[in-house]
Amino acid sequence: MNRYPSQPLILSGNKPYGLSLTYRHLPEKNPKKALRDLTKLFDPQKGIFGLGEPLVSAFSRKIPGLRTFPGLSGINCSSPSTQGSLWFFLQGDDRGDIFDQTERLSDILGDVFAPDDQIDTFLYSGGKDLSGYEDGTENPDGEKAAEVAIIEEGMGLSGSSLVAVQRWIHDLKHFRTHSQKERDNMIGRKQDTNEELHDASPTAHVKRSAQESYSPSAYMLRRSMPWALNFQQGLEFIAFGKTLDPFENVLRRMMGLDDGITDALFTFSRPVRGGYYWCPPITGDRLDLRFLLE
Ligand code: HEM
Repeated sequence: MNRYPSQPLILSGNKPYGLSLTYRHLPEKNPKKALRDLTKLFDPQKGIFGLGEPLVSAFSRKIPGLRTFPGLSGINCSSPSTQGSLWFFLQGDDRGDIFDQTERLSDILGDVFAPDDQIDTFLYSGGKDLSGYEDGTENPDGEKAAEVAIIEEGMGLSGSSLVAVQRWIHDLKHFRTHSQKERDNMIGRKQDTNEELHDASPTAHVKRSAQESYSPSAYMLRRSMPWALNFQQGLEFIAFGKTLDPFENVLRRMMGLDDGITDALFTFSRPVRGGYYWCPPITGDRLDLRFLLE
């Protein structure tokens, strides 16, 4: 049960097709009317919506816990920030429906916000990353998912969530040059059975990211989706939380910033974009932006 009025797709999970879309706001334009129109016209059953710090600051407001995605340098790896003002994760069973929604959004936002980036995402093989490994096994579910991802308190804040969105580009050709055993050891799970390898190398992704090994624990609700475009492919990594700390702490450890050990994922994949957003709650079946607009 969803006790707090959160955007429904956060907890219900992804549909087969997605579109991750970011906009920047045009500095000389007043965003209030476009955002008001968005609250009236955007259907939260068809996508998730978030606002970035650059836009929130323009209202001289502060959302607790929302900050700008940090650019980080780690051991033999880096993670850039491409912080945007608005983020949408449109979803549907039909790509055509997503196209229609995108057109509608540009009518609502077009005079005040400029599209910055978009990428089509899709469900692969029932929920796997393109490397062939199940993604999301250790995700919290049911009540625990809401507990991890949905903010409970605060006028205009209750039901909202914070999200990290990070695009990764894979080099699958390179990944496949490794034996099956080596690949399993990089992820820390067996590809065929999804069984966890307890004796995997400390560089294995699930060893680096084990949520209960952090203090405080680093639980997050992952809703990532694969993408493939123009002979490139990868993962649109998306993780919701009450705070952004679990994501950032895991990312830092993956990058070797805790203990000098870099996650084996970086041997075949690298992040190329990153943004943090606040996903407002809903009232009835519409977005609730009272925290910003009133
Ligand atoms: C190329 C990008 C990535 C790929 C392909 C990937 C893939 C996977 C896979 C296959 C698993 C094991 C199954 C599961 O529990 O979901 C996993 C677990 C996990 N990943 Fe990632 N991941 C990526 C990036 C990230 C990033 C950037 C973070 C956070 C900063 C992250 C956090 C986690 C967490 C928290 C777990 C569960 C660990 C546990 O508690 O056992 N992943 N990932």
